[in-house]
Amino acid sequence: MDRWNPFPTIIVPLEGPDEHGNMFEDGVRICVGTELQGGCAVGRGTEINGATLYPMTRVGRYCSIARGAALGAPDHPLSGLSTNIGLPAVNALLKLSKTEIGHDVWVGANATVLSGCALGHGSVVAAGAVVTRDVRPYAIVAGVPASERRRRFPDEICEQLVQSRWWDLPPEQLARLPLDDALACADRFRALGRAGSEDA
Ligand SMILES: CC(C)(COP(=O)(O)OP(=O)(O)OC[C@H]1O[C@@H](n2cnc3c(N)ncnc32)[C@H](O)[C@@H]1OP(=O)(O)O)[C@@H](O)C(=O)NCCC(=O)NCCS
Repeated sequence: MDRWNPFPTIIVPLEGPDEHGNMFEDGVRICVGTELQGGCAVGRGTEINGATLYPMTRVGRYCSIARGAALGAPDHPLSGLSTNIGLPAVNALLKLSKTEIGHDVWVGANATVLSGCALGHGSVVAAGAVVTRDVRPYAIVAGVPASERRRRFPDEICEQLVQSRWWDLPPEQLARLPLDDALACADRFRALGRAGSEDA
């Protein structure tokens, strides 16, 4: 086994929408038990391991979504007689918002991201966290409600990595970068003055 992945995986090859309006880029890996509820989008290289994506959830490139995570969980209406959206009059009150998961985001096991939240590029959601508001790029958030514990790298490096838009590089260019060393990659981007389009 050349990489750790104990779960049965379906490689999703399509780019166009499936019958539920979900869109996939190339190289997406979806493990058994994953549920995409419709109108979702998943970017290149992202791995989803048995999570639920509620409607209108967009997940960027090279993300890792762990088992039991719930992304874009919407609220049931609270002002009706019942909160049960099986009742048509209550269902009519339901408001769905877009949930935006950036690129290179890792969502830990059993974490919940409420509908309408945006997770910045490079952010990490700890296992079991409940995200109730936007998360800035490269932040690690934990707890209920989730709060920022630290950033993955110093602020200057985080900004450089966001500006580099490395996730837009063709995969063969990406593979030539020292991917095990974010600081070396940031150096490389700085030297190239890379704003997202030049060779890495
Ligand atoms: C958040 C995480 C990435 C660790 O990040 P880190 O910055 O290295 O955090 P540390 O281990 O140094 O812990 C920092 C603090 O956060 C707390 N913390 C860590 N994970 C936490 C979690 N899931 N929920 C709440 N608090 C957590 C630690 O207890 C510690 O608290 P303290 O400062 O009071 O001692 C890791 O704990 C985690 O949740 N990983 C997800 C694992 C997972 O779900 N894997 C599934 C396979 S993809």
